[in-house]
Amino acid sequence: MDKEYILAIDEGTTTARAIIFDHSGKQVAIARHPIRQILPNPGWVEHEPNEIWNAVQTTIATALIDSGIKPKQIKAIGIASQRETTVVWDKKTGLPIYNAIVWQSRQTSKLANDLIEAGYKDEIHQKTGLIISPYFSATKIRWILDHVKGAQKRAENGELLFGTINTWLLWKLTDGDSFMTDCANASRTMLYNINTLKWDEELLKIFNIPKAMLPEVKSNAEVFGITKNYQFYGSEIPISGMTGSQQASLFGQMAFEPGMVKNTYGTGAFAVMNTGNKPAMSDNNLLTTIAYSVDGEIKYALEGSVFIAGAALQWLRDDMKLISNTPSTSLAAKKSTDLDEVYVVPAFAGLGAPYWDNQAHGTIFGITRGTSDNDIIKATLQAIAYQTKDIIETMSSDSRIPIEVLKVDGAASANDYLMQFQADILGISLQRSSELETTSLGVAFMAGLGVGYWKDLDDIKQNYQAGKVYQPEMSETKRLDLYGGWKNAVEATMDFKH
Ligand code: G3P
Repeated sequence: MDKEYILAIDEGTTTARAIIFDHSGKQVAIARHPIRQILPNPGWVEHEPNEIWNAVQTTIATALIDSGIKPKQIKAIGIASQRETTVVWDKKTGLPIYNAIVWQSRQTSKLANDLIEAGYKDEIHQKTGLIISPYFSATKIRWILDHVKGAQKRAENGELLFGTINTWLLWKLTDGDSFMTDCANASRTMLYNINTLKWDEELLKIFNIPKAMLPEVKSNAEVFGITKNYQFYGSEIPISGMTGSQQASLFGQMAFEPGMVKNTYGTGAFAVMNTGNKPAMSDNNLLTTIAYSVDGEIKYALEGSVFIAGAALQWLRDDMKLISNTPSTSLAAKKSTDLDEVYVVPAFAGLGAPYWDNQAHGTIFGITRGTSDNDIIKATLQAIAYQTKDIIETMSSDSRIPIEVLKVDGAASANDYLMQFQADILGISLQRSSELETTSLGVAFMAGLGVGYWKDLDDIKQNYQAGKVYQPEMSETKRLDLYGGWKNAVEATMDFKH
């Protein structure tokens, strides 16, 4: 019999990927395709849903062709995707009635502010674990129903469907047979009650969103549908894993136990902590969300994001012109002779958890006549690590679970200086995954579990391949001293208003 594989689709904000894994969790093929960013107005970010579908189809074909693997050798498909991004389409024609509104888009800020002013903050937090923000899907659906002529009526008549990208791709792959989502993606809509594990009738009423538009919610590892043969090169393959990108990488990092945390260093950084089988509510505006539901067991998570991580390195490259490529920052930082007295606070988009200051602007402190480009580069890398420490400390205190290891992935996790400084400033060890595409790996594991390709979590754990480990080497005194300096810099940044 021909060897069997799992195909993971990772449809991210800027890139779609298709990766084929074998039974040992090893990558055997990868294909990528960029996603066009549509920016109609300042702060608005949109995608064209059919371009996303085409990009996904292209990556699947390329991965199959490059590897020589036949479509029927794919035992199952998993879909991980950018979360929250909202598509509304016509059930009959399959045509979206508006572009996909991307999670980053701020076109629904006013709607979100109105809800806060109307006093819904606590109720929404209690039910969904989220803070009211244009980030989540609910205000985006409302916006589309308000701005596309006749849309509310059509939605009420059951003519329109809503989905995040996972649901849209499932619907396309099954040619409209399966209209479903998973509980992790559902938990990011602000319409899903993470306690009852159901769409929340009261929230649907508040947003005036007809329930008929919403997909059925399933676990993360079960059969969601079967590809139509003409949508998958002549083969009918089960789609048996589905989740959001950040939950997928938590799973790919095998963070199956409470207290396990991963941090993905991308444009921003997303830290997610497994908090076990009950939701842990944050006192500091971290998000409570569903980590995964597999084999009848549900795990919750706390999540915090650093808005500007890799984006600060892009700023050094594209705007400050201090570097020609971002990996070179590691060497530059090692050459710096500054005694860690320069602080860059990259509050380019305000400050997130635990500060929550939308008005803050970026600052640089501690420069002298002798400050060099390498010193600024080093301080920028350190800022990524300091911001991560802010989140990790908040997570630990909100969950009352001590954090012993931080699992890391994402592009900037390849930066040796950043990783060592991160371990030093946290005072705990860092474990970099040997597979940097942990999002795809995580959803591949889910899809494999959904069809019995892997038996259970223990079976998956056999595939763990340790990557590089960074041990903290800094003295406690120095760690406290440097982190104290960061806290002062952040405070001064928040005080500075012009
Ligand atoms: O919440 C947004 C997050 O899911 C972004 O996804 O895949 O572009 O890193 P990604």
